[in-house]
Amino acid sequence: MRTVLVLFAHPAFHRSRANRAMADAVRDLDGVTFHDLYETYPDGFIDVAHEQGLVLQHDALVLQHPFYWYSTPALLKEWQDLVLEHGWAYGEGGVALRGKDWMHALTAGGSEDSYRAEGANKLAVEALLAPLRATADLCGMRWHAPYAVFASRLKSDSELHTAAAAYRARILALQRHAQD
Ligand SMILES: Cc1cc2nc3c(=O)[nH]c(=O)nc-3n(C[C@H](O)[C@H](O)[C@H](O)COP(=O)(O)O)c2cc1C
Repeated sequence: MRTVLVLFAHPAFHRSRANRAMADAVRDLDGVTFHDLYETYPDGFIDVAHEQGLVLQHDALVLQHPFYWYSTPALLKEWQDLVLEHGWAYGEGGVALRGKDWMHALTAGGSEDSYRAEGANKLAVEALLAPLRATADLCGMRWHAPYAVFASRLKSDSELHTAAAAYRARILALQRHAQD
């Protein structure tokens, strides 16, 4: 069974409904470490050695976050900027992440229809994640299709519960190493 590090980033988790439901659905799974970046680093100063150590202990990275301006919240970008060092994650001698998995689990305020060519956002979520995919590729990681919850703010508690259960199933599949 592959181990999973959930890198969770939500700057206002106390107000979250969608990510809270999703977090509750996966944090107790065997082989899953749920790592709340904003809770761990309230001042924004990331402990790079600690983060690299955590990454090395796991086979898969799941970046769980609300979609902010078609990308991740700022602390998760900071995490990429600092933790994915040259000579460690990529470049000469940078093989630490090779063969690991990378998957996004995100919540979007926009509807699924809005993420189509004819919709308000024009591009699909996976297309918008291109820089992150390129990052995973450069680090020799295996990209998995994102798990996205759309219209996140309009969903009822029961709809969020269903979406969270599907997220849990995606993590279990990733642990079994099922391909998308
Ligand atoms: C700063 C900011 C940027 C956002 N950018 C987007 C966006 O680019 N696309 C989108 O669909 N929703 C966007 N949203 C809406 C959030 O994705 C939505 O509030 C979140 O998914 C709700 O999840 P939660 O209940 O866990 O907070 C944005 C919200 C904020 C506060």
